[in-house]
Amino acid sequence: MFDSIPILSKLFFIPSRRFPGITGIGKINPGARRVLFNILYLIDKYDLYGRVAYPKDHTAADVAEMYRIAARRKGVFVNPALTEPFGLTLLEAAACGLPLVATNDGGPRDIIGNCRNGELVDPLDAAGIGDRIEDMICNQERWRQLSKNGLQGVKKYFSWRSHVKSYLNSIGKINKKRYFRHNVLIQRKSRLPTLDRLLISDIDNTLIGDDNGLDQLVDLLKRTPKSIGFGIATGRRLESALEILNAYHIPLPDIFITSVGTEIHYGAARVEDRTWRHHLNYFWHPEKIRAAIRELPGLSLQPERDQRRFKISYYLDGKKAPGKRTIVRHLRRHHIRAEVIHSHGRYLDILPIRASKGYAVRYLGIKWNLPTEHILVSGDSGNDADMLSGDVLGVVVANYSPELRRLQGKPRIYFSEKPYAWGIIDGIEYYDFLGNVKLQEVDLDQTA
Ligand code: GLC
Ligand code: MG
Repeated sequence: MFDSIPILSKLFFIPSRRFPGITGIGKINPGARRVLFNILYLIDKYDLYGRVAYPKDHTAADVAEMYRIAARRKGVFVNPALTEPFGLTLLEAAACGLPLVATNDGGPRDIIGNCRNGELVDPLDAAGIGDRIEDMICNQERWRQLSKNGLQGVKKYFSWRSHVKSYLNSIGKINKKRYFRHNVLIQRKSRLPTLDRLLISDIDNTLIGDDNGLDQLVDLLKRTPKSIGFGIATGRRLESALEILNAYHIPLPDIFITSVGTEIHYGAARVEDRTWRHHLNYFWHPEKIRAAIRELPGLSLQPERDQRRFKISYYLDGKKAPGKRTIVRHLRRHHIRAEVIHSHGRYLDILPIRASKGYAVRYLGIKWNLPTEHILVSGDSGNDADMLSGDVLGVVVANYSPELRRLQGKPRIYFSEKPYAWGIIDGIEYYDFLGNVKLQEVDLDQTA
């Protein structure tokens, strides 16, 4: 039986009892050496000298030829792995015309199920494996049929062409269903896909706070080309953000990042970004968080309307409440991982670990294909910190609160000397955001 089964591996060739030219095996790593020893031991034990073929060494380009040698000799490819997630070697062997005997696990089930080019076996059943192999190599007609099925099946089910085809097929279905309804529709109505730059600002104490500055900024926004988008990123919930934008006659944003980055909506229709919502739901256990925070002094829940699906908000009594580090440690002791954000020394927001204004901005940049240096963000307080300190162009207005002090000196964060909306205008000029965007790094080079 073994005569017709060339057994292939990586290391060397044993044509006879004498092992010519095996000096290299002393250099192989200990793991491989153990495997090799086992093989040699079994060859010796069952006296298989001259019946086992190993290439002494080989390159990737030789692999196909080795499978072909086995196929020419009407051999079988055997994969007795205990687990096999995919099974690339099975596909390679099948593509060279070898029938398969493979473990009844993972990838081989799909491969043999699709191609009908072999048998699945229990890898611990040596006698069963032997029977299957013998059956194939002793029955030439069957061998030929399995070999042919494999050659055709691999092309049909596992080539790049067929993979891409079935991928596009699946994507096409999604397109027509959910994605089409919720996203493509937005794309048609909105200008988001055509944006080249995006200005994102916090509302309270950044956009608003100085009416003259705001008037100037609104004027500037109205004059900007259509390719420059405008977004807000606020701790407020959507309705409250809309109210205040309305009250101050601020143009309707293209993007609303609200409730401290836990919700994203688009355009006049306020279409929610559901992908973002799904993304945040990871590791989020609001009940556990509320229970754990109840044990701490100085923190009282904000009104129910400010508690959101992914945001638990407290008022913080600066004299009694513990610091941020203590709160984070306290949550960890309860096996809770969450984003903890202080603002203005009097608010505390707890969000899922994937949520913050900064994460939302980064997500939008990727989604709408905007490089970070084409996104300018401005803010004044703690819940703006992480969006200011990303790779985007950050502008901190002069009236900032102490939580942002630690951002001083960081790259791409401009501390304007002007307050509120004046600071935003100053930041736009500083980076030449409406012209040929000028990065802070470039400035440093020029001054050096
Ligand atoms: C806004 C929100 C409040 C949050 C605070 C800080 O004021 O209404 O819930 O705690 O921003 O992010
Ligand atoms: Mg603010």
